[in-house]
Amino acid sequence: MKAVVYRGPRDVSVENVPDPKIERPTDVIVQIRSTNICGSDLHMFEGRTDFEKGRVFGHENLGQVTEVGPAVERLKVGDWVCMPFNISCGHCRNCEKGLTAFCLAANPEPGMAGAAFGFADMGPYQGGQAEYLRVPWADFNCLKLPPDAEEKQNDYVMVADIFPTGWHCTELAGMRPGDAVVIYGSGPVGLMAAHAAMVKGACNVMVVDRHPDRLRLAESIGAVAIDDSKCNPVDRIKELTHGRGADVGCECVGYQCHDPAGKEVPNLTMNNLVQSVKFTGGIGVVGVFTPQDPGAPDDLAKKGQIAFDWGMCWFKGQHIATGQCNVKAYNRQLRDLIHAGRAKPSFIVSHELELSRAAEAYQHFDSRDHGWTKVVLKPAG
Ligand SMILES: NC(=O)c1ccc[n+]([C@@H]2O[C@H](COP(=O)([O-])OP(=O)(O)OC[C@H]3O[C@@H](n4cnc5c(N)ncnc54)[C@H](O)[C@@H]3O)[C@@H](O)[C@H]2O)c1
Ligand SMILES: [Zn+2]
Ligand SMILES: [Zn+2]
Repeated sequence: MKAVVYRGPRDVSVENVPDPKIERPTDVIVQIRSTNICGSDLHMFEGRTDFEKGRVFGHENLGQVTEVGPAVERLKVGDWVCMPFNISCGHCRNCEKGLTAFCLAANPEPGMAGAAFGFADMGPYQGGQAEYLRVPWADFNCLKLPPDAEEKQNDYVMVADIFPTGWHCTELAGMRPGDAVVIYGSGPVGLMAAHAAMVKGACNVMVVDRHPDRLRLAESIGAVAIDDSKCNPVDRIKELTHGRGADVGCECVGYQCHDPAGKEVPNLTMNNLVQSVKFTGGIGVVGVFTPQDPGAPDDLAKKGQIAFDWGMCWFKGQHIATGQCNVKAYNRQLRDLIHAGRAKPSFIVSHELELSRAAEAYQHFDSRDHGWTKVVLKPAG
C-alpha cells in the first residue's frame, strides 16, 4: 500500500510499504478514507522529536473496516469508524478510570504510559496517512459512526484528535458556562478549543495569534480575534474583561511557541496566560511540551524546562492542568453533537487532497502558509 513515510527533517514521501495485517485476534484493519495532518506531526516533521526515519505518520484517522480479527465482537466489515489518536487497551488501571491517553499496556517502553498511531515515543504503531491501518484492541479503539459518516467525514475525522483536544483544554482549565475564555493559538487545536467553548456557553472567547487567515476563522464562529503582532495581547484581554483577566485560559501552541517575528520563546504562552487569566482562574495546557528538546534555541529548553512565572501564578491562586487528551472521554458525545448539527468542526478545513500530494501539504502547513489551516488527506481518492 501507499503511505506517508518520514525520511528526515522536513522530508516526507509517499511510498509503497507492506500492507498491515491482523497481528492479534483483537485487531481490525481499516481502509482509511480521511486522515489529517496535525500540528503534532509538525514537531516530528521538523525533526524536533526522535521519530524514526522510515516510519508512517498519521494519528487522525477515519475509514471503513475491511478485516476483523477473530476476537472482535462489536465491529463488522463495512462499518465506518473514527479512531482516537490514543491507542489504549481498555482494561488497565488508567483505562478503567477513563485516562486512555496514559494507558499502561499499549506502550512497550518501560516506565512510559500512553500510546498513539504514528507518534514519537508513543509505542511502535504505524500511522494512518496510508491506505490501510491496523487498529489494536479494536472493540475499544473504534468509534462507530452513524449513517451520515461518509457525507460528514470532514467533521467526524476531527473527533480523532483535535475536537476532543480543544474540548479537553477547556475542561482542564475548568471552564463553565458564562466564562470569558482566552485561547493562545489559532491553529486547528486553538480553533477547536474556541468551538468547544462556544458550544459549552462561554460568554466571550478571545483567540490570540498573528496569522490573519486563522484569526478570521476564529471570528467566523463568534470569537474575538487578537493579533499579537499588532497589540500587546495581555493588555487587550484586560480591556475586554473589565481589567480582571479571563476566567480561564487555554494553551494551544506548545513548546515551539514564538514571538510574532518567528523567534522561538518557549515560555511565552505560559507566562502570557498567567498574566491574561484572573486571580483564581484556571489554565489548561494541551499544546505539547516535551521532557527534552535537543533542537531547542536555549539551554533550559533543551532540558524540557522553561523560565515560568511561578511566583505570579501562585500569588494569583491559579491552577494548571496539562497533558494529552483522553479522546475516549469525549468522542461519543462530540460525534453526537456533529450528527445532531450542533457542532461543525470541519469549518477549519482548507484542503482536501489525495495522499500523493502529502509532501506538498506538509511543506505548506509547516510554513503556516496563508490559507493552509487544516489538510485532510483522502487515500481512497
Ligand atoms: N494534548 C493533546 O492531546 C494534543 C493533541 C493535538 C495537538 N496537540 C498540540 O497542540 C498544539 C497546537 O496544534 P495545532 O495543530 O493547532 O498546531 P499549529 O502549529 O498549526 O498551530 C499553532 C498556532 O499557534 C500560533 N502561535 C505560535 N506562537 C504563538 C504565541 N506566542 N501566541 C499565540 N499563538 C502562537 C501559530 O501561529 C499557529 O497558528 C501543538 O503543540 C500540538 O502538538 C496536543
Ligand atoms: Zn493530532
Ligand atoms: Zn490501558
